Amino acid sequence: MTRQPFFYDITLRDGNQSLKKPWNLKEKEFIFEKLVHFGVQAVEAGFPAASDMDFEAVKRLAQIAPENLVISGLARAVEHDITRAVEAIQFCKKPRLHTFIAMSPFNMKYVLNKKPEEVRKTAIEAVRFAKESISKVSKNGEVQFSVEHFGDCTENLDFVIDTLKEVVNAGAAVINLPNTVERTRVKTFVDMVEKVCLALPDEIMIAVHCHNDLGMATAATIESYFAGATQLECCLNGLGERAGNTNIYEVAVGLHNSGVDVPLNLDDIYELALVISDMSKVAIPEKAPLIGPEALAHRSGIHQDGAVKTKDMEKGAYRPIHPTLIGRKDDEKIGFTSQSGKTAVFEIIRGAGYPITIQEAVRITPVVKEAAEKAGELPARNIIDIYFDEVFNVKGNFRLVAFEKLAEGLFNLKFFHKTEFFDMNAQGNGPVDACLSALKQAGFPQKLVDYEQYAMDGEIFGSGAAAMTVIHFEDLEGNTVLARGKDESTLKANVKAIFNGLNLMN
Ligand code: KIV
Ligand code: ZN
Repeated sequence: MTRQPFFYDITLRDGNQSLKKPWNLKEKEFIFEKLVHFGVQAVEAGFPAASDMDFEAVKRLAQIAPENLVISGLARAVEHDITRAVEAIQFCKKPRLHTFIAMSPFNMKYVLNKKPEEVRKTAIEAVRFAKESISKVSKNGEVQFSVEHFGDCTENLDFVIDTLKEVVNAGAAVINLPNTVERTRVKTFVDMVEKVCLALPDEIMIAVHCHNDLGMATAATIESYFAGATQLECCLNGLGERAGNTNIYEVAVGLHNSGVDVPLNLDDIYELALVISDMSKVAIPEKAPLIGPEALAHRSGIHQDGAVKTKDMEKGAYRPIHPTLIGRKDDEKIGFTSQSGKTAVFEIIRGAGYPITIQEAVRITPVVKEAAEKAGELPARNIIDIYFDEVFNVKGNFRLVAFEKLAEGLFNLKFFHKTEFFDMNAQGNGPVDACLSALKQAGFPQKLVDYEQYAMDGEIFGSGAAAMTVIHFEDLEGNTVLARGKDESTLKANVKAIFNGLNLMN
């Protein structure tokens, strides 16, 4: 049994602080309910000292939080921030005060303008004060301490670890190791995380908080979990400062695919992503993993073939998950371009509800490809138009002019073969028999193998089509040729099918 990851969501804090228009209380509450349903174990609800609006939001979320959910409030390592945060989070069953200070040599020198020893002292005092404050209002209250810019602490890691030991003694139960700005290799960061995990007591929960400046935050978070970090700080839709924080969907699915028991309702993911995109006004990129509109689209013939063959299997030839795992209903999209093939034509037309055989798809694919070479990806409607034209209106040497019933068992057929006009009367056991007999008299005998008649769905075929006839001729080489005809009259559908068949064979 692997240990379960602890998902600490930072959408309402790091995500929110990066928005062009941060969320108000009502919006935060709405997203909070979604997070609760998704099943995260902790929510960092905001930065109470930042504004009265954020204070009220954190307080409200603490008041409505379920008993098993940790609610955290962020505070700089200063008494005022800590006091304000404790005031806001005290109402929930599991309040957590989260304080932080930067410890990278660069930041201590150029941003904080403090000596390392001063930073160490500030960190320890802030944690001690936070622990005392939270303990006064809650018996379950905890303190989380973050080493801001931990990823930049390669040169002074020993100093950081020594400080963290003291921070733990001062009362911190959770130590967070942020990659505040992602500048270097995942391995470098993960090795540092591992070192901290090994140096601190087992009962201390180690967290990682990775920003995505180089696009590797998901990898850094997942590998940190395997190196010993249990708390994974992530954002819905990968929101957050600059290029964002670690995307929670990618981490959850990445761990799930690695056999880890992920305590989240993964099938909430797709809907959550759409809602958050709408509320944040941050569009989901077309190619975004898992949730992007294109994330499950296949365009090359080879990929389409593999995708269709493994469509109903949990593992697919060209996808990382079955779409339903994350609640995606649009399944694998097949788009037709000049790179696509018969499988795409077949799937698109079948998917739209029209009857097509794979042989028909093979036959019309060159026409569809030619159109795609000119236009790029073809909308399904255009492919269906080509299908109608190529299947129900086959062009060739034969052209039907009219077919009429003259009397019981007697019919008249008028048609052109190339430029020659024929006007034949023929008897028959019904229209198909009579039409074939007229063609035979005109010098065009056909071998009919089979024919079927269908009532058509007016909704998809349009009001002018109520009947479809499918005929099977045998050509001179003994191959069966399938042809279709459609019309509002069964009689005409029969004759149109015969003429489409003639044109396919000649
Ligand atoms: O990125 C960061 O370092 C942070 C800290 C406040 C945890 O957001
Ligand atoms: Zn951050």
